[in-house]
Amino acid sequence: MSDKRPIGVFDSGVGGLTVVEQIRKILPGEDIIYFGDTARVPYGTKSKETITKFSVENVEFLMEKDVKLVVVACNTASSLGLDFLKRCFRVPIIGVIEPGAKGAVSLTRNNRIGVIGTNATISSGAYEKAIRKINPGIFVSKASCPLFVPLVEEGWADMPVTGQIASIYLTPLKSTKIDTLIMGCTHYPLLRETIQRVMGRGVMLVDSAKEVAREVKTILDSAGGLNTGGRKGKINFFVSDEPFRFVSVAERFLRRKISCVKRAV
Ligand code: DGL
Repeated sequence: MSDKRPIGVFDSGVGGLTVVEQIRKILPGEDIIYFGDTARVPYGTKSKETITKFSVENVEFLMEKDVKLVVVACNTASSLGLDFLKRCFRVPIIGVIEPGAKGAVSLTRNNRIGVIGTNATISSGAYEKAIRKINPGIFVSKASCPLFVPLVEEGWADMPVTGQIASIYLTPLKSTKIDTLIMGCTHYPLLRETIQRVMGRGVMLVDSAKEVAREVKTILDSAGGLNTGGRKGKINFFVSDEPFRFVSVAERFLRRKISCVKRAV
């Protein structure tokens, strides 16, 4: 059995491409429709009501494209809007929080996990809840790192200032003796080296993007919904604002040229 319909992925902007990359690695034959809400980014500073409203509209857009499954690539939208989305739509909807939490719980040896993300993700407590649902005995420490997103988008991932800011954000977490850290924001995998340097080699970094891609494969596999046939999947990108900036940042994220970016509205 096979389902040729595309997978829908949405994010507040360009960051969800880290999730797209991981899906492409694991499921190269799948077509993907990506929606980046570039007119309304960032979500990380907004309220639950606003993020939920935007998320519903984003899923409605993807449903019009006849997707077989929706991935909420945005950690902030997954933290605050996922439960509501699951109640509103019949298509399977997967967020990044549970897969990221599962990945971290399976890695930790000392039962001490750290989480970093946007202000909204961290104050929602979503990762903590997901971790404690799996193992209530795990200690969780957390920190919001709001400057990481603009630094990555500016192409400053390797600049000394980014290392200094990372030290300021992460030093208090280090002192909580965690052995595992969830990079709970779409942009943070692009800062992996800096984060690893500050945290030290003994701390294992969890990329929620990788974990969610594995989950997508498991779900499609068990529902007989994989796009089999050895073909190479296509990606169509849609954005809610003028595509120019999206294209330049996206090409940096993906380290290749992209085409097929359309304005959705
Ligand atoms: N995509 C968001 C996230 O993963 C980061 C950017 C934003 O604040 O919208 O939380």
